[in-house]
Amino acid sequence: MKRIVILVSGRGSNLQAIAQRCAAEGWPARVVAAISNRPGAEGLEFAASQGIATSTVDHRQYASREDFDGELARVIDAFAPDLVVLAGFMRILSDGFVAHYAGRLLNIHPSLLPAFAGLHTHQRAIEAGCKVAGATVHFVTATLDHGPIVAQATVPVLAGDTPETLSQRVLAAEHVLYPLAVRWFVEDQLLLDDGRVRHRAGQSQLLAC
Ligand code: GRF
Repeated sequence: MKRIVILVSGRGSNLQAIAQRCAAEGWPARVVAAISNRPGAEGLEFAASQGIATSTVDHRQYASREDFDGELARVIDAFAPDLVVLAGFMRILSDGFVAHYAGRLLNIHPSLLPAFAGLHTHQRAIEAGCKVAGATVHFVTATLDHGPIVAQATVPVLAGDTPETLSQRVLAAEHVLYPLAVRWFVEDQLLLDDGRVRHRAGQSQLLAC
């Protein structure tokens, strides 16, 4: 049984999608904890309602990023995770933290990386006139929104889209993509080779939503 710890900062809809699929599809895994850097994050309420352990490490209580990351890692490691999933976790992580979880730290970013790393991805995609947008699940490296790509989902950008309408379409795709990528990880289906990720059985790592 693989142990999954999920980090959130807010709403937690991806946490919810992953926890629900994990239970419904009988993955060889369990979401053992949800941890937030924001007290009262909505995502923790859902986790608690499912009997998942919750914890908060409030970044405002720490003098430096390294201090916060050190305490966060201590709390995470108490749950002995095989996989740490960033799901709307709005903190830049220190190099030491990322190195500690190398190969077992996943993130989802609401763009087709390497395009539009950082914030305001939907607005930037619309302003650039993109006809396609999407989301990317990737292993986390020390560079923000960067790292070996596990899977991507695409959605069309429609005439008249606003950042809100586009974000809703992308989020719906995220809720399919992220559980799938996490499932592949816990089923040992991912091969990391020379900075690229392959699915062992050759399953498509692209979802056209
Ligand atoms: C998602 O769009 C994700 O791609 C981004 O933050 C958002 C989190 O949403 N990193 P939620 O908290 O999972 O609902």
